[in-house]
Amino acid sequence: MKILVTGGLGFIGSHTVVELQNEGFEVVIIDNLSNSSEDVLDGIVAITGQQPVFEKFDLREKSKVQDFFARHHDIEGVIHFAASKAVGESVEEPLLYYENNLGVLVYMLQELTKKDKGNFIFSSSCTVYGQADKLPITEDAPVKPAESPYGNTKQVGEEIIRDTCNVNPDLSAIALRYFNPVGAHPTVEIGELPIGVPQNLVPFITQTGVGLREQLSVFGDDYPTNDGTCIRDYIHVVDVAKAHVVALQRLLNKKNESNYEVFNLGTGKGSSVLEVIKSFEKVSGEKLNYKIVDRRAGDVIQAYADTQKANNELGWKAHSTLDDSMKSAWDWERKIRN
Ligand code: WQD
Repeated sequence: MKILVTGGLGFIGSHTVVELQNEGFEVVIIDNLSNSSEDVLDGIVAITGQQPVFEKFDLREKSKVQDFFARHHDIEGVIHFAASKAVGESVEEPLLYYENNLGVLVYMLQELTKKDKGNFIFSSSCTVYGQADKLPITEDAPVKPAESPYGNTKQVGEEIIRDTCNVNPDLSAIALRYFNPVGAHPTVEIGELPIGVPQNLVPFITQTGVGLREQLSVFGDDYPTNDGTCIRDYIHVVDVAKAHVVALQRLLNKKNESNYEVFNLGTGKGSSVLEVIKSFEKVSGEKLNYKIVDRRAGDVIQAYADTQKANNELGWKAHSTLDDSMKSAWDWERKIRN
């Protein structure tokens, strides 16, 4: 069965391609390599022994999207990762984000609604909850005003899909709201490849550990949490990838209750920044150089998922611990720097 994975050479995309191939799916990847590399294909082949079909083009070229679906009329499901994801950049270049994340989404849905049956999985984010009033966060928690154009593309993206599903009963979609995906494949054949200075905590930690960065800045230790640092739900990228496969199977087997559903992807456990540092130090045996600095604008105090819905309805749960995630992230960082 043929599945299209857009952004399939990116961080979460590549891990999902591996899990799909392990489950026997035939994968076609579209990626423009804007934030990834063709070498990732070698990693995928090293793990699965299978070469996915790869087409390099930019999904903003609508005629190419149309041409692709005309050539691959046997695509039975689409997992749509391709998007821009840097919060700060989205503030500087909002139109780039609206075009990449929403314009392209519209093109994909236009093609899928032409088919007898369209199955679509969308990468959403816990960012839609903002600072939630109740923890852990359930899927019915209110969506809060977005803090950035990036966050807004995830909120509006969900609305576009919901509205399209409303009037297209033959289209089924699932939006997966990721908490904080981290780590790398245990084989260390694929992992995260941030371009430039990482904005996210875990790659910054591992790059500091390996000597590429001098010091980690911990953004604030005066938050109302146990140790004063912010709390997030860090989830291993392989657990995230596996959730995509079960979500896809739910659509293909028509087990979905409604033709548009939303699920949280988290572990259910919150960890503070200092706990993440401790975990890194434990699994690496290295002492991390860090200092406490001022709070970062826009950070929520705490966010961790209620995972009941995904557990019960997808039959999925995260298995890896924070230590597993940090160990794989560290092994990957050392491998790519050598
Ligand atoms: C985690 C914690 C920082 C860097 C990410 C995405 C966002 C959305 C949700 C995707 C925070 C602290 C970080 C550093 C630090 N995901 N930190 N020093 O903010 O939860 O957001 O996940 O859609 O788009 O960016 O993740 O990794 O940036 O930060 O102290 O150098 O680490 O303050 O508490 P965040 P993050």
